[in-house]
Amino acid sequence: MTAETGYAGHNLIRSGRTSDPSGRYYTSPELSRSLIERINVPKPQLVLELGSGSGALCAAAASRWQAARLITVDTDKSPSKRQSVHSLGQTPQHIHFVHDALDEDLPNKIGVRLGTVDVAVCNPPYIRPRWRADFGSILEDAGLSGALASLHDAGADLLFLAQNLRLLRRKGKLGLILPDGLVTAERFGGVRRALLRQHLIEQVVQLPRGVFKGTEAQTYLAVLSKMAGETDQLTLRQMGPDGQLSSAVDVPQEFAAKRMDYTFHAQASSAHRVQDGYRRIQVGDALTDVIRGSICSSEIGGFPTAVFHLGDFAKPDGENTIRIVPNRFSLSDSAARMMSSRTHLAWPGDILLARVGRNLHNRLALVVHGPCVISDCIFALRATEEHRERLYRFLESDAGQRALATSAHGVAARFLSKRNVLEIQF
Ligand SMILES: C[S@@+](CC[C@H](N)C(=O)[O-])C[C@H]1O[C@@H](n2cnc3c(N)ncnc32)[C@H](O)[C@@H]1O
Repeated sequence: MTAETGYAGHNLIRSGRTSDPSGRYYTSPELSRSLIERINVPKPQLVLELGSGSGALCAAAASRWQAARLITVDTDKSPSKRQSVHSLGQTPQHIHFVHDALDEDLPNKIGVRLGTVDVAVCNPPYIRPRWRADFGSILEDAGLSGALASLHDAGADLLFLAQNLRLLRRKGKLGLILPDGLVTAERFGGVRRALLRQHLIEQVVQLPRGVFKGTEAQTYLAVLSKMAGETDQLTLRQMGPDGQLSSAVDVPQEFAAKRMDYTFHAQASSAHRVQDGYRRIQVGDALTDVIRGSICSSEIGGFPTAVFHLGDFAKPDGENTIRIVPNRFSLSDSAARMMSSRTHLAWPGDILLARVGRNLHNRLALVVHGPCVISDCIFALRATEEHRERLYRFLESDAGQRALATSAHGVAARFLSKRNVLEIQF
């Protein structure tokens, strides 16, 4: 594990990226240079940028590879948005096309044959364009059509990635900025697996939140070498707000297909170490069941018994106290018998967790007094006698809360899936 410098010395968050009113986020010069520096190609002849916007990435590319031919494509005609593209000049070395980058026939439109580009750089738009038949062909050519449960799950980010793959030559390099969904969401697991098997993903760097001005969205920088062998181990790093890169965590292919974010794997790798005399295990191995409540928030008011919901968790109060579900939620034996045919109950010994919400990581309670009804925003973890206390103590600790926070998905509304919980190491 070695520490490396990304673009140290600049505050990436403050100088950040700027966005225009339609929510297109533009890459700052610092981040653009950092991405270009990470692409290890000494003298490319042809460099392409699809969705070039204000031209920050291609300007950094032009400054590093001065002899390269540079082609940029964007649908945006507004000159103010393409200032830097213009400042590069429409020289024989740089040609800009105002065209749809997701046109299946793009190669003919821009005079670039499929499989001939040496380096492609891209910060794709994060939108879901109205589906067209072209998109199916682009995904098919890129070897990604079988990787999605439904082709319509493909947003512009994945389509731009696929179009770049079509245009790149074998062993050509793609440097791109990716949103959280492609990197961590379960529904894109097939895409990650396909990319890892078909290409050499050289590195994924988790960028600081706030690197996009105006949004806390999590983004990543990735460099891929097309069909240069499969990725047996993926190298993950994290970039701090000052541009400094963390040590690397190397993740085997099967784990990288699950998710490619540094924070998750760094936590898991430290959790693998044997500490305090305990061998670390997965939460799933300590449980006999995970129950999700079924009463939604709109039903709670009219429900015949109290329903334990997100607002009922007590605030954390140091690591040594146990937060117990208040007695008013406990059902009598007869009420429990009646309710168990109607909804899912949590039973004494169950550990309750929030499965949604910004602060889900510090919402925790133990059922002690009696069975209780839980809402559909709550998981009840049924641990074996042997592991219950240690699991509760872990989830109450800073490490446990960090593990829950890094396992959750989503930007504003964070949520935990059952699988996220089962895979946490403790
Ligand atoms: C996230 S911005 C990135 C701009 C620039 N590459 C950067 O990093 O600052 C995405 C760009 O893609 C362009 N874009 C969106 N849909 C497009 C399409 N179908 N074809 C070409 N460009 C498109 C937008 O106009 C915008 O300039």
